[in-house]
Amino acid sequence: MVDIPKEITHTGHHPRMAVVWSVLSAEIERFAAGTGATLRILDVGGGSGGFAVPLAELGHDVTVVEPSANALASLHQRAADAGVTDRVRAVQADADELPDVAEPGTADLVLCHSVLEMVDYPDSALDALGRVCAPGGAVSILVANRIAAVFGKALAGHFQAALDLLTHVDGVIEGRDTIKRRFETATLTALVGGSGLVTEQVHGVGVVGDLLPASAGKGETGTGEALREFELATASRVPFRDMATHIHLLARKPMR
Ligand SMILES: C[S@@+](CC[C@H](N)C(=O)[O-])C[C@H]1O[C@@H](n2cnc3c(N)ncnc32)[C@H](O)[C@@H]1O
Repeated sequence: MVDIPKEITHTGHHPRMAVVWSVLSAEIERFAAGTGATLRILDVGGGSGGFAVPLAELGHDVTVVEPSANALASLHQRAADAGVTDRVRAVQADADELPDVAEPGTADLVLCHSVLEMVDYPDSALDALGRVCAPGGAVSILVANRIAAVFGKALAGHFQAALDLLTHVDGVIEGRDTIKRRFETATLTALVGGSGLVTEQVHGVGVVGDLLPASAGKGETGTGEALREFELATASRVPFRDMATHIHLLARKPMR
């Protein structure tokens, strides 16, 4: 794990996101190799810019492809508040339209965070992410983990819901879920492999995540920092990694 830049640790991210920022920071460092080079970043389903704006604040050029007009309005506001309007470009489109709105091979880093759960065809979306990524560039994927959802329901005493999540082909509760699918580490890496991208790193994000009661650590000093350390220490360790609320995967596009 590399150190997370101060600019990022001070922007108020939840401690469980520390591992994602750590991986992204290392990738940026690898690309720039100490030269301070600017990355071309494409954030697909980037929402209101939770990742895009801090990345622009680090000096990179970020294009957000996002279907929701409301999210884009918040993105514009957030970018303006941070003083990075000139480094954030917004395109209203969904992942299916990626080939029409982004040139192949033009992004050094592609983000697709909490989106593959919602698209109609995750394999086509991954193909599109791979196409737009420059050879040697990276694709950062964050998805909901079925195992954590099963645990969450079971520990809350909702055993039928836990069984439904466990046995449903897409890891959802039919008709009662807000997303179309959840993933497991093995299914995600297989899907990514099918798109020609090469998985380099897999981490768990939010190992205790949704299982924490609201009262956890309340009144104790340093709980946030300790949780951050716990998340970083467990993120790549099986079985913790595979039980986390989200799975983060970094894949590379071969140079060919
Ligand atoms: C949970 S939010 C994640 C936002 C952002 N990626 C982040 O991690 O902060 C999911 C986003 O995906 C967008 N979305 C939904 N369906 C999509 C699709 N088919 N293609 C691209 N984005 C989509 C939503 O509008 C929403 O902004």
